[in-house]
Amino acid sequence: MRLEAHGLRSGYGSVPVLHGVSFDIGSGEVVAVVGRNGAGKTTLVKTVAGVLRATGGGLMLDGAEITRLPPSGRVRAGLRAAFQERSLFGQLSVGDNLRLNGFPAEQHEAVLALFGESLAGRAAQRAGTLSGGEQKMLTAALVLSSSASLLIMDEPTEGLQPSNVELLGDALHSAKESGRSVLLVEQHLSLAMRLADRFIVLSKGEVVDAGTAGDAELAGRLVQHLAI
Ligand SMILES: Nc1ncnc2c1ncn2[C@@H]1O[C@H](COP(=O)(O)OP(=O)(O)O)[C@@H](O)[C@H]1O
Ligand SMILES: [Mg+2]
Repeated sequence: MRLEAHGLRSGYGSVPVLHGVSFDIGSGEVVAVVGRNGAGKTTLVKTVAGVLRATGGGLMLDGAEITRLPPSGRVRAGLRAAFQERSLFGQLSVGDNLRLNGFPAEQHEAVLALFGESLAGRAAQRAGTLSGGEQKMLTAALVLSSSASLLIMDEPTEGLQPSNVELLGDALHSAKESGRSVLLVEQHLSLAMRLADRFIVLSKGEVVDAGTAGDAELAGRLVQHLAI
C-alpha cells in the first residue's frame, strides 16, 4: 500500500506544528521518521491516522484521497496506527482490548505470543495495570497482528527491554517481507537502521533531511540531527 503526503499542515488549536510535510511510502517499504523531542513526529502520526485534522496539504492512500476521512475510514482503507500514548482502554482487560480491536478469543494468545513470554497468559489482566513497556508491546501487537497494509508505529520501543526490541524488530521485518508498508517513528537508531529503507528527519515541523539506508553519510547526519 502506497502513502503519499503532500505539504501536510496541522497543529493544536491555533498553534501550527507541521508546516508542510511531504513524503511517501511505497508498498513493502519501511520509512523511519527521526527527530528530536518536540520536532512534530507524534503530530505527524496523528495527522496521518486522522485523529488530528490536517489544516493544509493532502494524504493519498493508493492514489485515493483520505485527507478528510475520519480515523475509522482510514482503518477500513488499510491503515493502522500504534500511538505513542494511551492507545489502550486501561479499565478493560487485555482480552477486551483485543476483542475491541477485532480479535476473537481464540486468537488472543497468538497475538500475545508475538512478544514471547512477556504478555502470554495475561488476557484476564486489566490493561491499565500492565507496565509501560507491556502496554507498548500490547499496542504494537494489536497493530502488527491486524490485517492492515500500512502500519504506523510511534516510538514502539519506548520502555522495552533489549530482548523485546529484538522481537519487535523481527515482527516488523516479517511485516515488510510480506509486503506491508511501515511508517516507523523511532529514536532507537540501531533498530531504525536495521529496518528502514529510507529516513526522513523532522525538525520544527519540517522535513530537514532525507536519505536512503544505503546512503553512506546518512548515519553520521542522523546522529548530528539527534544531538542536543
Ligand atoms: N496536545 C497538544 N496541545 C498543544 N501542543 C502540543 C500538543 N501535543 C504536542 N504539542 C506541541 O507540538 C510540538 C510537536 O510535538 P510532538 O508532535 O509531540 O513532537 P515529537 O513527537 O517529535 O516529540 C511540540 O512543540 C509540542 O509541545
Ligand atoms: Mg512523539
